[in-house]
Amino acid sequence: MDRRRFLRNFLSGATALAVGPTLLHGEWVQAGDASRFATGLREHPWLAGWKSVNTESFGPTTVELQGRLPDGFAGTLYRNGPAWTERAGFRYEHWFDGDGMVHGWHFDEGSVTHRSRMVATPKFVREQKAGRFLYPAAGTSIPDVRAVRNNDDVNTANTSVTTINGRLFALHEGGSAFELDPDQLTTLGPVTWRDDLVAVPFSAHPLKDRDGSLWNFGSIGLMGGAGLMVWHVGANGMLITANVLETPIHGYLHSFAMTEKHLIFVLAPFRYAEGEGAFFERLHFSTDQACRIAVVPKDSAEQTRWFEADFAAVYHFGDAFEKNGEIVVRAVHHTDAQAAKSPLKAAMKGDGSAVNSPTRLFDLRLNLRSGQARWVDTGIGDLEFPLFDPRTRGDRAARLYAPVSEGSSTPYFNAVGAFDVERGRRQVHRYGDAIMAEEHVFVPRPGSRRAGDGWLVGTLLDAERGRSGIAVLDAQRVSDGPLAQAWLPYAFPLGFHGHFAVG
Ligand SMILES: [Fe+2]
Repeated sequence: MDRRRFLRNFLSGATALAVGPTLLHGEWVQAGDASRFATGLREHPWLAGWKSVNTESFGPTTVELQGRLPDGFAGTLYRNGPAWTERAGFRYEHWFDGDGMVHGWHFDEGSVTHRSRMVATPKFVREQKAGRFLYPAAGTSIPDVRAVRNNDDVNTANTSVTTINGRLFALHEGGSAFELDPDQLTTLGPVTWRDDLVAVPFSAHPLKDRDGSLWNFGSIGLMGGAGLMVWHVGANGMLITANVLETPIHGYLHSFAMTEKHLIFVLAPFRYAEGEGAFFERLHFSTDQACRIAVVPKDSAEQTRWFEADFAAVYHFGDAFEKNGEIVVRAVHHTDAQAAKSPLKAAMKGDGSAVNSPTRLFDLRLNLRSGQARWVDTGIGDLEFPLFDPRTRGDRAARLYAPVSEGSSTPYFNAVGAFDVERGRRQVHRYGDAIMAEEHVFVPRPGSRRAGDGWLVGTLLDAERGRSGIAVLDAQRVSDGPLAQAWLPYAFPLGFHGHFAVG
């Protein structure tokens, strides 16, 4: 696609986004009710996982570690998640809406120091000043919204973090990466990788290649156009390429997968309803239609091949590998497409009967010879946020590490699992009935090249005792429980994704 055509598509998408909310003006009837949430929270302490923060920062706070950090484990776990979800009695109804707060957990011998800070996006700064929400949200209709000039006016920078060459970035699927100071977590501003690509989405799930470069996509389709921007950023932080991949349908995707040779994008077909409402309110998955899957050779995008498989609603992929003419991609299916659109929606409303969006781990098998694709159920369920050791050989399955539910008294995960799917083995550590367990990041042991040799670092919320915490486990002995663990004297809401920066 030539650049002019791309920009035309892109602008038509942006216009749709800007025009939609103006239709809402004066027609808004029911908003999220902050008092209803507060009532629910008194009865169900675990709703603290979705409680709004009302401070721009926490810490720095140093707490002692129980147990002992393994030799060689040193660095900072950065995490991000929606945190500011209420203003002036109005509460967001969709978990993805809150403005992002980035956390840094820096490990020293015997202690960990936590600090966090709201990302100072233009949206957050203006809304702080106004004392109310001013801009459209991804999943909640907002009354009396301001006009939107581009994606970064509504960018909450709330989904993930990554580092490139020592620089720290807060990521969101609908707009620019925001660069932060890696020590103080102060916001430096949005990143423009190339002058003509201002505010083009740079999504929240970049994948690091073996050469240290970073692949990512930005969904133009998310805003009404059709296509993906495929980004390739060098290990030095300079843009290598930004190419548009035209897509045959309007497909939703939140992340992607990668083998040594290919990028794999799985598009879930959807219909975007006319009229008013936020993006996720207007999005209807077309569950009777096939997913379209792009297999893009890293070194020759023009050789892209498209596959079709049954509909699936997927936010997160695990590893992918290539063997005997077949690509296998691990994916967490949200098996209830309606629940998938707004996970834990009832919890956002303060409803104690909330349940987690049901999930199941599938293999996507893409036969490169026949062109056939199919999903295969692994039999593993109730998990999300799968991660793995990227040093795993490109022709074999990696072990997956993911939060799981193991007799949880909350609707959220309360354990972490290590899954060797091919051998049918798993190890689980259960933190407790009501301790909520988040994503666990794999940290390779320095100096080792053996896949799986390293640690998991994951965050926790003990709502009953009003404290957030962190645990470090041996990735090969997950069922032994944490080697080291620490709790803060305060709590903050659950987040989404993290990144461990060594050093
Ligand atoms: Fe995600």
